[in-house]
Amino acid sequence: MDMITRRDFIKICMSTAVSLTLTEQIIPIVGQAFAEKKVIKPPVIWLELGSCTGNSVSLENAVNPTLDQLLTDMIDLRYHWLFNAEQGDAAVKVMLDTVAKEEGNFWLVIEGSVMTADNGRYNEIFRRNGKLVTGLEAVQEFAPKAKYVISVGDCACFGGPSAAHPNPAGAKGVWDVVKTKVINVPGCPAHPDWMTGTFAHLLMYGEPELDSYNRPIMFFGKTIHELCQRRQQFEDGIFAKYPGDSGCLLKVGCKGPVTHADCPLREWNHYVNWPVKAGTPCIGCASPHFPDGMMPFYNHLPDIQTPAIAMDVKKTGAAIAVLGTGAVATHLAAGVFARRIHKHYLKGTKPGEPTAPENLEQVKQELDDLIRRQNALLSNAKKYDAVKKTRRKKSLLKRIADFWHTEDKSGDEPK
Ligand code: SF4
Ligand code: F3S
Repeated sequence: MDMITRRDFIKICMSTAVSLTLTEQIIPIVGQAFAEKKVIKPPVIWLELGSCTGNSVSLENAVNPTLDQLLTDMIDLRYHWLFNAEQGDAAVKVMLDTVAKEEGNFWLVIEGSVMTADNGRYNEIFRRNGKLVTGLEAVQEFAPKAKYVISVGDCACFGGPSAAHPNPAGAKGVWDVVKTKVINVPGCPAHPDWMTGTFAHLLMYGEPELDSYNRPIMFFGKTIHELCQRRQQFEDGIFAKYPGDSGCLLKVGCKGPVTHADCPLREWNHYVNWPVKAGTPCIGCASPHFPDGMMPFYNHLPDIQTPAIAMDVKKTGAAIAVLGTGAVATHLAAGVFARRIHKHYLKGTKPGEPTAPENLEQVKQELDDLIRRQNALLSNAKKYDAVKKTRRKKSLLKRIADFWHTEDKSGDEPK
């Protein structure tokens, strides 16, 4: 039997209608590839920098025995301070030998953000010849020698909670401190499937297709909102009033519309639950702007602290943030034009809820606020390549604004 095609492999990764975990499905496929001598087990060094070890714990949630299988049957894990049998100098020697002898061949997996303040002294991760080595130094030394550099979890990818304001340690994502290409597998933590699926793809087919944030599209290609089981309630204007209530959680802070990940399909804790199913809004933990840009967690989207307004915009991702916010506005606009929002949201859905015109005024204010933020985002994102697309969004937003203001002057409601 030949190794399965990349297309079929991606289908497996994206499929959820199965009783086996993704790792359980992948291990035999990888085993087959090994048997055919099409691939060899990659030596892997897993560094933990500024983090809570949540991604390693999440990997353990690839319900056993699959973690053991992953470590023994798929990769050759040479160093991981949590899973090492040896500790101290003996373990460090194995790691340094791997870097020296397997240059261009080993994979560097990084968990946790890189502390950059004071030359990285807030995070020292091992000793070499009696001298403490910082995470910053290790990453900058090892990354150019690795075949692949993979960041797991939001901290390693984008700074994450470790980089939250006021960030005294200068925490940054790995791709901000190395020139080498970094594959980002975000999440707080990353789902075990996102990690094992990415590893298996690298092993058998090389680099997976990535988006502008270097995230594998097979796991991060769609928004939570696109996949959400409560989407129909969003469309119908049935909104939860508090976490735990039934209905779409948008008005209690759900960041699903601007967060790319497949949580609604994949689910967590061995495929039993995920935030919205448990009645709590998505707080955007897989977003490049988590957590600062996703706060306040329980305020709904038009009030979102869109990060590009305040942040130092360095990557094309900023433009994607614009598109994300624009997508919400566009969706809102589509609802207005389709009369759905007029019918359900503006009129209120339950006895006691505000009805037009009070609610209409609130929606107008929210839309104006969104347009104002969109414009601020656009002015920050002008340098980047997606700007043409955002201009198209801008003109659409202007049309929406005109629409509202015309209605405002006339005193009529949309029909
Ligand atoms: Fe689901 Fe949140 Fe979108 Fe509502 S806003 S449909 S709860 S993802
Ligand atoms: Fe995180 Fe939202 Fe998924 S909070 S776990 S990205 S549903």
